[in-house]
Amino acid sequence: MSLTQPPKGARQSDQSQPGVPIPKVTMPALTEMKRQGKPISALTAYDYSTARLVDEAGVDLILVGDSLAMVVLGQENTLAVTVDEMLHHTRAVSRAVRRALVVADMPFGSYHGAISDAVANAVRFVKEAGAEAVKIEGPRIELVRALVAAEIPVVGHLGLTPQSVHRMGGYRVQARTAETARELEADALALARAGAGAIVLEGVPREAAAAITAALPIPTIGIGAGPECDGQILVFHDLVNLTFSPQAKFVRRYADASALFRSAIEHYREDVEHRAFPADAESYHLPSSAVRQAGASADSVSGNGATEFDSEDAVVNRDAFEDWGR
Ligand code: KIV
Repeated sequence: MSLTQPPKGARQSDQSQPGVPIPKVTMPALTEMKRQGKPISALTAYDYSTARLVDEAGVDLILVGDSLAMVVLGQENTLAVTVDEMLHHTRAVSRAVRRALVVADMPFGSYHGAISDAVANAVRFVKEAGAEAVKIEGPRIELVRALVAAEIPVVGHLGLTPQSVHRMGGYRVQARTAETARELEADALALARAGAGAIVLEGVPREAAAAITAALPIPTIGIGAGPECDGQILVFHDLVNLTFSPQAKFVRRYADASALFRSAIEHYREDVEHRAFPADAESYHLPSSAVRQAGASADSVSGNGATEFDSEDAVVNRDAFEDWGR
């Protein structure tokens, strides 16, 4: 690596001062945030544009979650999404992100067989898609050790693990008894000892998450796990109301993108139907010299600059956009 190369976090963001590089969030930086009592913000993203917005808003961790199966691909649960699909979306997110830690979710089936196969799949996320850590569900202690030995930072995921939907018999809050809460804490400690850098706690009682957070040296990131976790994560589409399902108790909607998009799309359709779009100002015009060269009379150019010229030459190609002001 060249030490003179600008760091990944060199792009200007809304959070930064002009010309001052933004420090990159790393896995050790998250542990340091826990030590300093600074809450960690995390959100999912699945494509370039949303990842860019999330990153520029200063969110610390971006998860390319396998929830994309449901919120982006319209599947019933997270089980069918493939490694190749996850890689495709992780690449798009990595291209956008300068500051946040990019974590890729390992999809169902990609880490449930031989450990060597799971490590090989995880390597693809780092090598081919730019992920800086992978997330795996369940207390897979041996696998976490193997991934860390392969230099791949790991985020664990305990509690309601959506890839276990059939075993759990639905999406149910977990660890609701003193005994299961103790088991959950033991699993979290084992993951931390194996080298996990952080643990997502999903759908567990606030009290259980608080006890685990206090016991662990690494950060907990909660979703439906109460406010005592070291950080919080939500699915982007839930945050902005782009999901078409009933809202879970733990979701807070910060915007209504469905209403915004619907209204924009309906207005566009109406404008097209009423020939109100595009207006002359949104149209390209031939320069008058080109009109003359093509043999059109000056009279064929209307007073507002629009041309009635309709030869093949009037077709605007993409190369002309630059010259004519896009
Ligand atoms: O796939 C996902 O979105 C997750 C959550 C933790 C948000 O795993």
